[in-house]
Amino acid sequence: MKNHPVMDFLKQRYMSMNRRRRIYEGKAKILYEGPEPGTLVQHFKDDATAFNAKKHAVLDGKGVLNNRISEFIFNHLNAIGVPTHFIRRLNMREQLIREVEIIPLEVVVRNIAAGSLATRLGLEEGSPLPRSIIEFYYKNDALNDPMVSEEHITAFGWATPQELDDIMALALRVNDFLTGLFLGANIKLVDFKIECGRLWEGEMMRIVLADEISPDSARLWDAKTNDKLDKDLFRRDLGNLVDAYTEVARRLGILAEGEPVASAGPKLVQ
Ligand code: TMP
Repeated sequence: MKNHPVMDFLKQRYMSMNRRRRIYEGKAKILYEGPEPGTLVQHFKDDATAFNAKKHAVLDGKGVLNNRISEFIFNHLNAIGVPTHFIRRLNMREQLIREVEIIPLEVVVRNIAAGSLATRLGLEEGSPLPRSIIEFYYKNDALNDPMVSEEHITAFGWATPQELDDIMALALRVNDFLTGLFLGANIKLVDFKIECGRLWEGEMMRIVLADEISPDSARLWDAKTNDKLDKDLFRRDLGNLVDAYTEVARRLGILAEGEPVASAGPKLVQ
């Protein structure tokens, strides 16, 4: 078997898969070194966390669904000219992305009162807001992602005023587009969170959409019944998360009727 071409191929493939360098591991995703400089592989895990990981579960199929839903959304955004880090989906759990310098902010856009806004201001969940509202949270687990203002962001240098303008314009474009996309699937986009990054192309730098957009990072309600189709099902123990995410994928036309997704795709061996 020495120097057999098939063995060589398998050996090389096995070695390169094993040696893939882990760049970063978060609560729901892992970033690996990509096949070319300036690229990364974003791997979606089945882990679900809430309340800064105080609550944790592994939900079979969640990673596969978020990979597909986020791919669908980022492809549409790329197509309408919203700059993103997304290149293409690689397999059931992974996508190829451009390496960006993540800006340490969670940018939340809200259309309807819910979650922490409803609690903080004593609003009834479900009441429409007078206009879309953008909020910023400083990404820092040790501090529990505190809410911050534009003043904090520019004073501490997390982003420049020009970058903040770009981030807000991008967030509103994403909101306008996604509101329509989801409404066409009989879903209300209540709120969502995005993260942005700096993409360097030689001397040029652009702010692009990074991370993911999925029912983990958005509140999605059935347009007629207001039934929740997002991670609040898990946060508040209200029902089956994987069934709801499957329903979102079906309504967006990502999954055909009856096509199974749960437990599809190889799992990560930890
Ligand atoms: P909030 O109402 O809990 O502040 O959440 C606002 C939106 O941001 C909601 O769509 C869920 C999303 N989100 C995340 O993606 N990650 C988080 O850590 C939190 C707290 C919220």
